[in-house]
Amino acid sequence: MSDDHTHVQEFFTARAADWDSRFPDDGPAYAAAVAALGLRAGDRVLDAGCGTGRALPPLRAAVGASGTVIGADLTPAMLHAAARAGRDGDGLLLLADVAALPLRAEVLDAVFAAGLVAHLPRPADTLRELARVVRPGRVLALFHPVGRAALAARQGRRLTDDDLRAEPSLRPLLAASGWRMTSYTDEDTRFLALAVRTR
Ligand SMILES: C[S@@+](CC[C@H](N)C(=O)[O-])C[C@H]1O[C@@H](n2cnc3c(N)ncnc32)[C@H](O)[C@@H]1O
Repeated sequence: MSDDHTHVQEFFTARAADWDSRFPDDGPAYAAAVAALGLRAGDRVLDAGCGTGRALPPLRAAVGASGTVIGADLTPAMLHAAARAGRDGDGLLLLADVAALPLRAEVLDAVFAAGLVAHLPRPADTLRELARVVRPGRVLALFHPVGRAALAARQGRRLTDDDLRAEPSLRPLLAASGWRMTSYTDEDTRFLALAVRTR
């Protein structure tokens, strides 16, 4: 386990037990972001950095019983909280680094990643790995239920121009990692970047 992983695990282990109760009103925002993926019945989707699995119920609803939902996370305590909340009934919970997925190439139709990118030590490598497992033409959603400016204010920091999720940074980062950004929204109540896997 690398130092980066240890740091992420320590950070989220300390927050796992009360993660959902800290953000009780996010459900509709997650459902709307999942809807933006345009999933179809039978699709295969990964929730990358699924945490306590808040997106798993809407992802399962979108792909139906014939679809496949996988929630992957690096922090066992987050996955335990997901299971305690019964979300292992909506998808397969996988303890894994999403930068090195135990999945064959081009097996998925979509990746949903909420609150993930800011925690990645090597975002380009990880986005490339996510592209590897998605079929060309299918989709990625990078989501956060709070926009960049509102999140920075909440965390008491200033929003800087070199922010990874700023549009001028994110668009080329995605392009260099196998994705073409198709839409970008950064409002107080929603950050959502959608991208299509290039051929
Ligand atoms: C801010 S939380 C978001 C959790 C969940 N997606 C949500 O929206 O509630 C970020 C999650 O990403 C996980 N994570 C960070 N880096 C990861 C990696 N390289 N592979 C898998 N999970 C990772 C953390 O363990 C944590 O559970």
